[in-house]
Amino acid sequence: MSSPTLLTICGSLRKGSFNRMLLKEAQAAFGPAETLEADLNLPLYDGDLEEAEGVPQAVKTLAQQVRDADAVVISSPEYNKGITGVLKNALDWISRVEGMPFKDKPTVVMSANAGRTGGETGQFMVLSCLTPLQALVLPGQMLCVAAAGKEFDDSGALTNEHYLKVLATRMEALRAAVT
Ligand SMILES: Cc1cc2nc3c(=O)[nH]c(=O)nc-3n(C[C@H](O)[C@H](O)[C@H](O)COP(=O)(O)O)c2cc1C
Repeated sequence: MSSPTLLTICGSLRKGSFNRMLLKEAQAAFGPAETLEADLNLPLYDGDLEEAEGVPQAVKTLAQQVRDADAVVISSPEYNKGITGVLKNALDWISRVEGMPFKDKPTVVMSANAGRTGGETGQFMVLSCLTPLQALVLPGQMLCVAAAGKEFDDSGALTNEHYLKVLATRMEALRAAVT
């Protein structure tokens, strides 16, 4: 496969999100690919809405992007030591789409946070939430960028050699899983 499709999913909607910066670095480390970023700006999951109107178009689009991707990278901050509402909501919606879009999808999860654990606790929760979706979560060293405000320069580039090394290893493994 010469040019795989890589879908990036950011658990923060914030424009200046450190997790989005980390995903850009992940993209670069992954190498040549058709890359697109998921839009998690979705309505809140509501069973009544689903019953009345069906799955929203934005969710169908997202689910199709997951299905079509060769590989997925998720980077999310933790909020209060847990998964962000934005990411949980998206995963809940995706789980309502026929055909299990995440099933066997090679996926790497990472996090960046202001705190000193880099979102490790929240990342465990993301991994846990991916379990019923049957994503093929690749094993490897956890990448948890701590004190994220100090680890990216003004252009959004990750400057810490250790994190860059872990990221390269994780992305090499992801690429190997899809090529
Ligand atoms: C609601 C909320 C909860 C947060 N909880 C945590 C936390 O549990 N651990 C932590 O390290 N930082 C926490 N933070 C700070 C985030 O790490 C920081 O805002 C970070 O920049 C968010 O990621 P982003 O840059 O990708 O948006 C929290 C921030 C918000 C807004």
